[in-house]
Amino acid sequence: MSIPPLRQRSAWKKLEDHCLHIGSRHLREIFADDPHRGERLHAEANGIYLDYSKNRVTDETLGLLLDLAEESGVAARRDQMFAGQHINVSEDRAVLHVALRMPVETQLMVDGHDVVEQVHAVIDHMTSFANQIRGGEWMGYRGKPIRNIVNVGIGGSDLGPVMAYEALRHYSKRDLRFRFVSNVDASDLTEALGDLDADETLFIISSKTFTTLETLTNAHSARAWLIEHTGSEKAIARHFVAVSTNAQAVSAFGIDTANMFGFWDWVGGRYSMDSAIGLSTMIAIGPDNFYEMLSGFHAMDEHFRTAPFARNLPVLMGMLGVWNRNFLGCPTVGVMPYEQYLKRFPAYLQQLTMESNGKHVTLDGETIDYQTGPLYWGEPGTNGQHSFYQLLHQGTTIVPVDLIGFAKSLNALGEHHDILSSNVFAQAEALAFGKTEAEVRGEGTPDDVVAHRVMEGNRPTNVLLAEVLTPRLLGSLIALYEHSVFTQGVVWGIDSFDQWGVELGKVLATKIIPELSADDEPTLTHDSSTNALIRHYRHLKRNED
Ligand code: F6P
Repeated sequence: MSIPPLRQRSAWKKLEDHCLHIGSRHLREIFADDPHRGERLHAEANGIYLDYSKNRVTDETLGLLLDLAEESGVAARRDQMFAGQHINVSEDRAVLHVALRMPVETQLMVDGHDVVEQVHAVIDHMTSFANQIRGGEWMGYRGKPIRNIVNVGIGGSDLGPVMAYEALRHYSKRDLRFRFVSNVDASDLTEALGDLDADETLFIISSKTFTTLETLTNAHSARAWLIEHTGSEKAIARHFVAVSTNAQAVSAFGIDTANMFGFWDWVGGRYSMDSAIGLSTMIAIGPDNFYEMLSGFHAMDEHFRTAPFARNLPVLMGMLGVWNRNFLGCPTVGVMPYEQYLKRFPAYLQQLTMESNGKHVTLDGETIDYQTGPLYWGEPGTNGQHSFYQLLHQGTTIVPVDLIGFAKSLNALGEHHDILSSNVFAQAEALAFGKTEAEVRGEGTPDDVVAHRVMEGNRPTNVLLAEVLTPRLLGSLIALYEHSVFTQGVVWGIDSFDQWGVELGKVLATKIIPELSADDEPTLTHDSSTNALIRHYRHLKRNED
């Protein structure tokens, strides 16, 4: 049976009506009517405890949201994904990042091939290579062991590796140095290489397509640097490896395909950190910790695949996100990890969520008449509290926030951790309940500043609480967000796995490059603003020359 357009689904219509009653109710009232909701509205899986009671929902809202998930075909679509069907319709591809973490003894046949066997062949190759680097057995061209690993990639070929390296740094081999170069701005590469000895440096060129301009520009400059410092082109074989789906381009670049770690078109860039794109992660934390991370991903995949919606973390988070976005009209979501090691997690989530769900047409190409993916952003706590939380508490835009906390620190030191964690709970409490005028007056506040000190509250939060940040926990946390993004994409009826919106800018930049570098004044055929900017750039550039 075909699924009606979103606005015509029965649960959607009921949610619209329901929102008229509940949408303006304050969390203070909602908690007063249901004082034990904090004990009830939580779900737990794979060591992650989700408290969603401080969302502006009642049991009725939750029931309707889960009905909407059912009516939108989330379960059927999820099963199609796990079965390797081509659910990425605009690129006619399977979406199988879940196969990257399936245990070796399992099987998943797609187009006549067991993809799990292929995945584990690459994991074995990565393992052997990582062990050689970690054990000091892989020698550079002039006989020195590798001590520096430089990952060159951008988007999914950078954000996952750098986030995972930072997140799991506690577990990393400290006598190896890791650098991540993504920006085509030469300062990125120059600063990364400035203090490195080329004889001890390995470059991992990470690019699914191996055609991305930024990565190839950086890779060519890195190659030139290596040859200059080692005195021979032959050094490339010992100092460059590639992670890609494009063996031909890797070979054309000059990297022996024996030193290439492959993956497949069914792994989206932003879903690839647990594929060979995670080679730098495996070298840093060691194969066993990497397998632990994969097992955490897989555990959350299984939870998503099998748990009833009412206890299914990704479905609950995804549907609460739909409520906040489509019914309460919240345009952004803040993600605040109270764990310094997760400092790059918000940046990672930005690509995962916004490249996936920033879409304006349905799977059939129909223009959408409702909101899709919100803006994601964030900073680690407590730093954010001393910069932008003011707006979260008293600004005119309601920002739902995910607060991520841990019961134990990886670096226990005096009272630090309880001080840090108290802020997770305090912020969720303050955002929800605020401070009333009566409370402010009751503190003896002078009349003329009462209004300034009132905090409206009624700001929704999810609190995600776990024991301690481990490789396994990180895997589960990422998979939780992956599947919550998936759930929302199904409800919105969009293709969460393509990214056509990034293409136009790339094409236009390619046209503009020669216009910036030409010696003779080029004939410009852009709009008047772009033409004027290019002329002014050329003028400034000449001044500097
Ligand atoms: O331009 C966007 C994008 O295609 C992302 O989706 C991807 O993660 C990134 O570029 C890098 O692509 P590649 O790994 O092919 O270099």
